[in-house]
Amino acid sequence: TTLYYHEPHRSQIHFTPKEHWMNDPNGMVHYNGVYHLFYQHHPGSTVFGPIHWGHATTRDLIHWQHQPIALYPDSLGWIFSGSAVVDYKNTSGFGRQGKVPLVAIFTHHSVKGEQEGRSDYQNQSLAYSLDEGKTWTKYKGNPVLKNPGIKDFRDPKVSWNEVADKWIMTLATLDHITFYSSPNLKDWTKESAFGKETGAHGGVWECPDLFSLNYQGKKIWVLIVNINPGGPNGGSGTQYFVGDFDGHQFTPFDKETRWLDYGPDEYAGVTFSNTGNRKLFLGWMSNWQYAQVVPTQKWRGAMTVPRELSLKKLNGKYLLASTPVAAVNNLFGRSLQFQNMLVTDLDLTAKTGKLTGPAIIKMAGDTMKDFSITLSNSLDEQLVIGFDKSRNEFFIDRTRSGNVGFEKDFGKRHMAPRFSTSQNFDCTLIIDKASVELFTGDGLTVMTAIFFPGEDYSNIRMQSKEELKLKSLDVSFQKQPKQY
Ligand code: FRU
Repeated sequence: TTLYYHEPHRSQIHFTPKEHWMNDPNGMVHYNGVYHLFYQHHPGSTVFGPIHWGHATTRDLIHWQHQPIALYPDSLGWIFSGSAVVDYKNTSGFGRQGKVPLVAIFTHHSVKGEQEGRSDYQNQSLAYSLDEGKTWTKYKGNPVLKNPGIKDFRDPKVSWNEVADKWIMTLATLDHITFYSSPNLKDWTKESAFGKETGAHGGVWECPDLFSLNYQGKKIWVLIVNINPGGPNGGSGTQYFVGDFDGHQFTPFDKETRWLDYGPDEYAGVTFSNTGNRKLFLGWMSNWQYAQVVPTQKWRGAMTVPRELSLKKLNGKYLLASTPVAAVNNLFGRSLQFQNMLVTDLDLTAKTGKLTGPAIIKMAGDTMKDFSITLSNSLDEQLVIGFDKSRNEFFIDRTRSGNVGFEKDFGKRHMAPRFSTSQNFDCTLIIDKASVELFTGDGLTVMTAIFFPGEDYSNIRMQSKEELKLKSLDVSFQKQPKQY
């Protein structure tokens, strides 16, 4: 059906559940040409409740296919967040007749245990699939990692570690990370802990991820830790640390808090497993501050576009850079390109035609100047994205973006520092019906924000107090969406 593409606020180029509630991405894994996305899902309601793992697949990272629910709650609890791995060596013994098992490692959240006032109601469990993710069987020996008495004990992210020659589980344990190792995914041994004295601690640590990236031939480790609340712009956010992991222990290079996305609406983001040297990241495009009250009808929740992560070094420090995966460009067709433009006050849509759906805007120049891009509609609602040179900050202002009244802190202006030390100016904006993603300053500054105008934005206006000189400006509009 094509029906749900026409609902108010329905994302056109971002993954959304057909209907009902969605939060974190889970179990993202690439296998045999297919990318699997599982997600926290409450079928039957548009608010959080008995959580399942919903499932969707894509071959190109941009066109998603809905799949049947993968994991249902059971006597051990709801199916909270977790990861999935391809167990090529059949270390788990789940493989049969040469079939490679996909193994999901997730948190069983016992509501009963919680209600009884116990502190051990979150435990780690396994499920496996022998048909490339179509159907899943829960392991009879669940849970495989029992709670030692820490209330928040969840969101296992597992990967194979070559140095340890074992699986390493990165687990969020209240206010720090605990690493465990296992030869077979079933028996887990505690290795080390990290983070009590490092990083942001305005809320509970959740949904971690540990992976390495190559930087000029060196293997550098990145530890992602989502946190709620305590994010850089209020509510939930994604922080990360850069350092070394020796197979047992994570040692950060410094104690600074870094944020992967400064916008209010990227949360619980982690990476896909089994993607070789590429590290592909995707997050939930919402914030626990208001996720359950945003004004969508049939469904709640969307994912960011998949992003590719890399490391950059600035003043001796490593920073994560994010760019939308190249495939995102294939979503866009008609494109207008301008060269050597001087912008003071430009009605862009007078040149390109009105916005009727998603668009991607790319700008490049050789000087950083103040600027703003305003998306607006005939109701005089507007979203402003821009750069404040005096503060060296990017911002997204949704104070007047439309329906903001559902939560007191929604209608705000959000800021993000510019890290890039380059003279040059670069900016990519991915605009969908209810979201914008800003990638700028060599991918070192990223902001994601959602919005709910009374009528879709149709105009784009660019302004600059200082006369912004653009070497190039590209505006591309979404191709006619595929009919599912
Ligand atoms: C993060 C989170 C996870 C938990 C899941 C429950 O958004 O709170 O820590 O596993 O959502 O849906």
